[in-house]
Formats: sequence, structure tokens, C-alpha cells
Amino acid sequence: MMKLRRNVGLAFDDVLLVPKRSTIRSRSDVDTSASLIPGIDLAIPIISANMDTVTESQMAIAMAQAGGIGVIHRFMPIAQQAEEIRRVKRYESFVVESPFKISSGETVQSARERMTAANIGGLVVVDDHDRLMGMLTARDVLLAPDGSQPVQELMTPRAQLIVAPADETPASARRTLHDHRLEKLPLVDADDRVVGLITAKDIVKLQEHPVATKDPKGRLRVGAAVGVRELDCDRGTACLEAGADVLVVDVAHGHADHTLKMIARLKRAHPAALVIGGNVATPEGLRDLAEAGADAVKVGVGAGSICTTREVTGFGIPQLTAVGECAEAGHSLGVPVIADGGIRSSADVTKALAAGASTVMVGSMLAGTRESPGVTVVRSGQRFKVVRGMASLTANVDRKRIEKDQEQDPIEWEKVVPEGVEAVVPYRGSAAEILYQLVGGLRSGMSYAGAATIPELWANADFIRITPAGKQESGPHDVGVLS
Ligand code: XMP
Repeated sequence: MMKLRRNVGLAFDDVLLVPKRSTIRSRSDVDTSASLIPGIDLAIPIISANMDTVTESQMAIAMAQAGGIGVIHRFMPIAQQAEEIRRVKRYESFVVESPFKISSGETVQSARERMTAANIGGLVVVDDHDRLMGMLTARDVLLAPDGSQPVQELMTPRAQLIVAPADETPASARRTLHDHRLEKLPLVDADDRVVGLITAKDIVKLQEHPVATKDPKGRLRVGAAVGVRELDCDRGTACLEAGADVLVVDVAHGHADHTLKMIARLKRAHPAALVIGGNVATPEGLRDLAEAGADAVKVGVGAGSICTTREVTGFGIPQLTAVGECAEAGHSLGVPVIADGGIRSSADVTKALAAGASTVMVGSMLAGTRESPGVTVVRSGQRFKVVRGMASLTANVDRKRIEKDQEQDPIEWEKVVPEGVEAVVPYRGSAAEILYQLVGGLRSGMSYAGAATIPELWANADFIRITPAGKQESGPHDVGVLS
């Protein structure tokens, strides 16, 4: 017999939030910080999606600098994904833990090559026991006529270097770098072995992004997506070793035995690892993932801008209802919910959070930015970037290409059943600008709810269903919009 859920499933556009008496005087009085997962808070509750047209290292860096976080997608070889993680971890840290080094006997030519390959402006010169011998900058070797000259003849020798101990603080490093007009400050232990490097550039970056999402070592935080295949355990291990702060077990239908097993397996192999599970659309799904060990759960089936899962399979739950029902279960278990998919505006962010989510995951809204890895195309003189569903035809084919040896096993395109599309979105400038608009709208929304914090938004939120006439009334109408 046919079973029909009593509840009507609501999408973001089916509702508005009821304005409440507010004590908030200014949008800046609102605190948008939220728990990504127990142990990691974000200053802004926004995550960039683990899609191959949305998040690689560049996007993850921009997200973490703004106070959110990015999840590096998994549609690349394991070593490459680990390298993407390392790029984020290396990008902005107070201390460079493993500075690029060179032996004092090596040549100017090899120093040049190393600096070019690593895109850096200097090398720490060490002896065979890793003891500091000097510093070599790009300027020292730029015009050197003889490439075979040993670097020790051009470096600034140890006796002239200012150094600091391993536990140097940012304030003291800043003073030392300024007092001596230095760009680099090597850190050494009691035996003069190099244990790190602080650069003036990194101190400046610290001040530029005051709410950046950082780990205890001062490095930007980043997530890594893994799948549920045998080799994904190795993927998880490699990403954690590269410094990933959180793993996201990423499956379209996450309420499945293989997902539960993978979460449990990752938790067994890495008890300290933080694991997000998903995607689900029901409280039962959330509970099962939490029981398997998920510390946070991603909610959303078929809501994404590039998804066709609902059209292809007939399955899904309108996103606002899915988030609301899952969040109720999540709150009672202490498991934060990430509302994943369908976010088109700051109003959608506010509604998803008001329904109980702690954070939102955003795909196509960020795919049009400079930092996304998607290809740029020009149509009729306008710039667009490509975004594609990870279950789209071309993404399926590309994934199979990575997984198989194409020479021996050609891909049969016609056998792919896509559940997503490939599309374009207008080029939208930097991710920081999009995030500024999303967070600005959220702050304003929270003030309408009389909520100074996200938990207060959960408590104060009161939704009202609207009709198509209400929807039409909500946008600009009966005018010709100029901008
Ligand atoms: P938005 O709306 O922000 O959604 O672009 C991003 C989310 O969409 C999901 N996703 C897919 N869902 N088929 C689907 O049904 C797909 O091919 C696909 N690709 C991504 C995913 O949850 C993402 O975060």
C-alpha cells in the first residue's frame, strides 16, 4: 500500500521568516560563528562544496581566510588531493615548519631551480646535520655569473643572521623582523638545528584575515572529501597525513551500509579524526550516520543547483524540511547539521540556519568566482565559469578515466546514467565578495529575528508559509530594475 508522509515538504521559497522584536542595534552586533563539527568553530557558517568545479586549494584558502572552510574534492588521484591539502596548510602559517633548505655545498644553479619549482624567494642553508649555515635569497643568486658556484659563497653566513627559538610568539617575531628590517627569521633549537621559519609576509597575512579559520599551529584549516571504496581509506589516511582537519565521507545517498561502514572504518583507523558523513535527508539517516561515528552530518538530497537526482530517481526531500527535521535530531544528539545544496542567496542561508542547520555548504554560488577551478568561457562578450554536478555525464566519465586504464578499458558513454548536469554561471569576481554579501544578508536577517547568535536564531525562528502571490510580492515588482 502507498505510504504518504503527512508533512508537506517545504523548499526555501515556500516560506519567509516572521520579523521579531529585536534588541540588535547594528548588524555588527551579530555573531555569525558556528560549530562546523565539535572541535572546530567557524567565524562564518559557510563551507565551499567538495565539487571539482568549486573547491581545490585556491578556494579552500579563500574560504578559510574569510572565516569559513573549503572541502577539497576527491575526483583526483590521492597524491594530488594530498598535495592540494598541503598547499592550503603551507599557505598561511605563522611558522613554516619545514622550510625549503639547501646544503651549503650545492650550487647556485640548483638553488635557482629549487626556488623556481617551489615558487619561493629564499632557502635556508644547512649542513649535513640540519644545522643552520646561512640564508640564501633569490637576490643573492639572481645575476650570479657562474651557476656552478657553491651557495656558501653567496649566502648570508650564520654569524650575521638573527634567529629565534622554536617557541617564538607572533608579537616577538614581529618586533624582531621590524627592528632588524628582516624578511625571514629562522627558528633554531639548542643545537642550532633549523626547526622552522617565520616570514614577514606571514605576519602581515595574520593581520589581513583576523577571523581566518586556523588550526592550533596557525595554519588555515581545510577539509578533504573521501568516497566509500576500498581505496578511500588510503585516501583518508593520506589527506590526514597532509594535514586535513576534517574528512567528509561524500556519497549522494549517504544513508547506506557502505557509508556507515566507511565512517566506522575511518574512525577505527584514526580515532582522533573528525568525520562528516552524508548526504542524508531524514532524521533516521542522521541518527544512523551519528551512530556509525559521524561527528557532523551533511543534509541534502537533490536540492543542488546542478542536481537531477530527483528527476532521474524520483527521490529527495525539499531542502528546508529535510534540514529542519534532521537538525531536530542533530540537536538532541549534539551533531551539527550542514545544509548542503540549493543556496542561491543570503536569504536561503538565513532560512537554512533558522531551520536548525549550523552551517551551509555552497556550490554553484562560488563556482563563478576567481578561486574556483572551473573553466572560464566567454559567451557574447560575457565571462562565465563552468560548474558541473559530480554525477553529471562528463564528471562520471572523467572519474572513470582517473580510476581506469583507458588504453585497455574504453569508457562506454552510453552506459552512464547521469544525476547531474554541466552548466555555466556568470563570473562573479572573488569568493570574498560573494561571502561578504552572504554574511551581510545573514547578519541583517539575524537582526530581524532578534538573534545575536546562531543558537538564538534557532530559538527565535518562526516560519510562515507563503503562496505564489507572496513569493511574487517578495521580489522587486512592477518596476524596471536598473541594478
Ligand atoms: P549548490 O546548489 O550549492 O549545491 O550548487 C551543491 C551541492 O549539490 C550536490 N551535488 C549533486 N547532487 N547530482 C546531485 O544530485 C550531482 O551531480 C551533484 N553534484 C553536486 C552536492 O551535495 C553539492 O554540495
